[in-house]
Amino acid sequence: MIGLYFSGTGNTKHCVELLVGLLDPSAKAIPLESPETAEAILENDTVVLGYPVQFSNVPYIVRDFIERNRSHWKGKKVFCVATMGAFSGDGAGCSARILKKYGAVILGGLHLKMPDSVCDSKLLKKSAEQNRALIEASDAKIRQTANRIRKGKVPKEGLSPFSHLLGLFGQRLWFYKRTAGYTDKLKISDNCTGCGLCVTLCPTGNIGVQNGKAAGHGKCTMCYRCVSRCPQKAITLLGDKVVEQCRYEKYTGQN
Ligand SMILES: Cc1cc2nc3c(=O)[nH]c(=O)nc-3n(C[C@H](O)[C@H](O)[C@H](O)COP(=O)(O)O)c2cc1C
Ligand code: SF4
Ligand code: SF4
Repeated sequence: MIGLYFSGTGNTKHCVELLVGLLDPSAKAIPLESPETAEAILENDTVVLGYPVQFSNVPYIVRDFIERNRSHWKGKKVFCVATMGAFSGDGAGCSARILKKYGAVILGGLHLKMPDSVCDSKLLKKSAEQNRALIEASDAKIRQTANRIRKGKVPKEGLSPFSHLLGLFGQRLWFYKRTAGYTDKLKISDNCTGCGLCVTLCPTGNIGVQNGKAAGHGKCTMCYRCVSRCPQKAITLLGDKVVEQCRYEKYTGQN
């Protein structure tokens, strides 16, 4: 078994690491950006694939990854994990449908409510206490899920035709353009000092620093990693002002 995850602000990383560790303590969980992912699919029969839901869809970088490795999925058993701030309908189903197309066997799906990662919007913002409670509830659900899977009762969240309709009409249809590809909407203000942190963090290599100022190159997958970490709060994406820099570690006191 291998865990593969894409994670902007750390929620999905935590969830996949916890689930994979409980299911198989000898199994690794690695980020989608690491160079060994394609090899890891080939070497393992079972894959736990995790990602954050974006407008009830799978982040473009994850769809791109699945498609790029299309020949690797045949016969692989995949369990899809979708983390979200509130609602997705078929968050797990969205990747499951693409994977099935390439011959994967979908074992199940899991939806986990975690702190919202959109740093530049007041919408869905919760207190630190509420976010900690969300994480604790998700941790409990992950432990329960691992126990159920061991007994052969694999959850199928987000995989039914009803979930598909919920995701489609609840959100995806209205926001489809936002996730149709990489975006060029990243904004970097004059507060940028050119420190280069965002350059090293970005999973798509979207940001560069020139003449002491960072700039995006139109290949952003909206993960909010740079927005949540810029020391100057100089980066925004969907909104125009950083409301709260959100990171999993912040809520668990690790950072
Ligand atoms: C661009 C964007 C769109 C999002 N859309 C949704 C959504 O449709 N529904 C939802 O419940 N959460 C949504 N979220 C929240 C994230 O899915 C959620 O916070 C997730 O756990 C973040 O995981 P990460 O820390 O691994 O990146 C969105 C986040 C971003 C950045
Ligand atoms: S992390 Fe912020 S301050 Fe540093 S280069 Fe990037 S945008 Fe500029
Ligand atoms: S530019 Fe920022 S939000 Fe966009 S993909 Fe890179 S790190 Fe993520």
